[in-house]
Order: sequence, then C-alpha cells, then structure tokens
Amino acid sequence: MQLFIRSLCYLYSLIAASCNAQEWQDRRFPDDFLFGTATAAYQIEGGWNADGKGENIWDRLTHTKPYVVQDMTNGDIAADSYHNYKRDVEMMRELGLDAYRFSISWSRILPNGFANQINEAGIAYYNNLIDEMLKYNIKPMVTLYHWDLPQKLQDLGGFMSPLFPVWFEEYARVAFENFGDRVKLWITFNEPREICYEGYSWTNKAPLLNISDIGTYYCAKHLVLGHARAYHAYNNDFKPTQNGECGITISVQWFSPLTDSEEDRFETEIRMQAEWGLYAEPIFSDEGGFPKDFAERVAKKSLEQGYKKSRMPEFTDQEKDYARGAYDFFGINHYSGFFVSATEYKTVNPVPSFLDDEDNGIFRPAEWPASASPWLVQAPKSLYNVLTHLQNKYKDAVFYITENGWAQRKEEGLLDDKRITYYRAALNDVLDALESGVKLKGYMAWSLMDNMEWLEGYAACLGLYEVDYQSEARTRTPRKSAFVYKQIIKTRLIDPDYEPDNLTMWIEEGH
Ligand code: BGC
Repeated sequence: MQLFIRSLCYLYSLIAASCNAQEWQDRRFPDDFLFGTATAAYQIEGGWNADGKGENIWDRLTHTKPYVVQDMTNGDIAADSYHNYKRDVEMMRELGLDAYRFSISWSRILPNGFANQINEAGIAYYNNLIDEMLKYNIKPMVTLYHWDLPQKLQDLGGFMSPLFPVWFEEYARVAFENFGDRVKLWITFNEPREICYEGYSWTNKAPLLNISDIGTYYCAKHLVLGHARAYHAYNNDFKPTQNGECGITISVQWFSPLTDSEEDRFETEIRMQAEWGLYAEPIFSDEGGFPKDFAERVAKKSLEQGYKKSRMPEFTDQEKDYARGAYDFFGINHYSGFFVSATEYKTVNPVPSFLDDEDNGIFRPAEWPASASPWLVQAPKSLYNVLTHLQNKYKDAVFYITENGWAQRKEEGLLDDKRITYYRAALNDVLDALESGVKLKGYMAWSLMDNMEWLEGYAACLGLYEVDYQSEARTRTPRKSAFVYKQIIKTRLIDPDYEPDNLTMWIEEGH
C-alpha cells in the first residue's frame, strides 16, 4: 500500500512539474504581490547586552546550559545585524525586495518586559532599520514576538501565567506607538506551536519546560488571548490613524491520510487540530474556542487518567467572542508535509502527554528530498495543499506566507541548487493557489541570511546569503539562490531554466 502511495506521489509531482514547465511564461505573479524575506531578532541581531538591552530566555538558556545547542554556540553576536543593519538593507535592495519581515526583541526595547522602563537605544535601532528600508520603498512586516521572552517575565511564569495577555498588550502598545506611523503590517506571534509545544511540553525551544501534560494547552490559551488583546488595542486605538493590518503567524505543515480509511482520515484531522488548529480555530473559525475533536479526546483521556476535569482549559463565551475574528490576515510558515496513520508509525510516549493525546503516527517516504535539518524534507505540492485547505476552511481570511525555505550545511557552499529546486516548487504551488482563488498577498522567503538556528546552532544554514561567522564584519555573500529569487521578483515569472550568468565570474573573483 505504501509503495502504491509513494509511486502515486512521485507520478503526481512529475506531471505537475511538466505542466509548470510548459506554461511558465503565462504564469505571472501579480504586480502588487509582496515578495520579501524574513528573519528574527535573536537569530541575527547579536548585541545581546548592548546599550541597555535586557536578558531574554534564549540568552539565559544558552549562557547557563550551552550544551543544549548542537554546536555549543549562542546568539550573542550572531550575524551582528545590530551593527550591520545598513548592509542588511543593501542586500534587500540587491534582491529587489518589496518587503522584509523582521522581529522586535522585546527586552531590547523593554529590558525587564514592562513599559515602565523604555530603552531608547533599542527604539533607535529599530527606527534606523525601518527608516533605512523605507528610503528604498521596502515595506516592513514586523513580528512582535519571535520566541525571545524577557527573562523577568519567564520568572513570573511566562506563557503559563494568566497575566501574560496583559503583559503582551502593554508591550505591543509601545511598539505600535513608536513604529506604527511607518509599520503597516504587524504580526503578533511567530509560530504558537513552536512556542507552546516545543517550549512548554518538550525540550526543543526555550524555556525547555517539558510540562508534557498541560504545558501546550495553557500556553495556547494565554497566547491566543494575548494575540486578541494586541489585535483589539491596534484596531481600536491605532488603526484609525495608522491604517495598518494586524495578524498572527502559525506554522502549518501539510498532513494527509496514509490510506483512504476512515480511521486514517479522522486521525489526520486530529493531527491538524493538535498541530495548528489549537491556535487557528479560536481566532479564524466561526465557532471560536479550541478545536472540537481534539478537545474531546483530551477531555476523555484526562478523566480516564484520574484528572477531575480536562487538562485542556476552556475559553469562556466572552473570551471566545473576544478572540474570534481578531485578525486582518493569517500568516503561514510552511516547510514540509507528512502522511498520518491511525495505527502505523506510532511512537511510545509518556502518559499523560501532548503526544499521547495526539495518538497517531506520521510518516515520510524516503525518496522525498531531505535537507540538512531532519525535520525539513520537500513534500510534493504541500504548500498548495495547505493554502487551498486553509482558504476553504477560513473563507474570509487573506493570507501571507511569512516563512518558507531550505536548510543546507555550510560545506555545501554557494551553489545551492537543492534550495533553488525547493523554492521553484513552492512558488509554483503559490501560482497554482492564486489560480485556484486563494487570497494570498505575499511570500517571505526564510531567510535573508544564515542565522542562529535555535538548538541547531549555526550547523543548519537557511540563508539566501551566506554569513561568514569567522570574519569580524560577519561578511554576507549571496548564494546562487539569491540570484534566482531576484530574477523571479524582477520578472514576476518562474523561468525553470534560468541560470544566473554572472555567477561563475563572481565566484572566481574569490567570493
Ligand atoms: C522559525 C524560524 C526558524 C525556521 C527554520 C521556523 O520554525 O520561525 O525561526 O529559523 O523555522 O528552522
């Protein structure tokens, strides 16, 4: 059976590829489609304690437990964008970007997390970056929270605290007040799943809390309410004069049933509800609240396990109303896909735990191209499937792809043809989705440059530009994919045979 499915997928991708090849000249991206790249503060800025910045949870983790990062590195200097922002903007110009997505480091502008102390040097850094971008007509898309919580707020409970939504609104208001005259695209959170599951129910992201039974669910509730508070603050008090948009970015990988059985189809639905529905449903669905099937499963298991009520909290009716519809757009981070099985590929998990609550198995065929990061493989048509699925489900939503990209080892060098193949396939999915009527307004490639890949350290490189961490200036050098992306942006077409002609000469010059 699996062999059959694999062959089908392979055949499908071949047919899709050849269709695309025949039609590429006729398939243009709209002129107002925003092409950009994305980064995050902790991963590129460095300056971890420069000019009054406060400590955050990644500073604390990497300084006290350096061994948790694969290559024992940290983001203390990273690509040093704190000092190199002009070069970063120059790269955006080299690529011809319409937009650039970056995140604000909360503790750089509010060193202890609260608004009683504003770090003017931090505000100045982001003002300089934004102004430099605007000089060249590059639109800022700003993420308020990309995983670097001020340590003081973690000490007070972080996302486990019911006070979290209040803290987050206070911070968001400072950002809107200081930058909202020029920033028109706001993202409250980057990837709630990675914050809540990987940080609070597992040990793959700071603060590595591993509260496997309830961590994800309480974090999810407080995060959603924090998002809603920031959204309403913007909508009521800033949007009328600033005229921007405010959304949230959720990581959505593609899941499809391993077989056509009812069980596999149901478990695929459960998997989607657990992986991204927990965060999307309360905001984007008509019903509001956590997704029903998964909530029922957790409630049932909780009672069987001796709890007096479900380990998953509920939203009150008032909270449901408050969060439902609290969006101007849905930001999607997409990288990969999986098959889901009700019975096969299941792992042994602690009971109770989030993984035991999911209670299904996932599988990826060995022939799907693998990147340098084990979690990132190229799954056929996965971005198209995600986009059409979400648009069918959330009919009123408009979308931005806020991340999509490919990991390599540094030793693989500047001629990153695998990344180019990945980007071309993803962007063909984007064109297909636009043709199917998906309201998609832009695409941010991850990433502008190599950066600190969290617990993978500097081992995995996702940049269109390579960063030389041995050099004082953290020299940035474009990979071949940078030239290909630039050509796509310029022509608004995906030429499947385009080869940058100045590349050989440029590499021979010693770059
Ligand atoms: C995150 C980025 C990260 C990228 C590649 C996404 O989940 O938002 O911060 O660098 O994946 O690992």
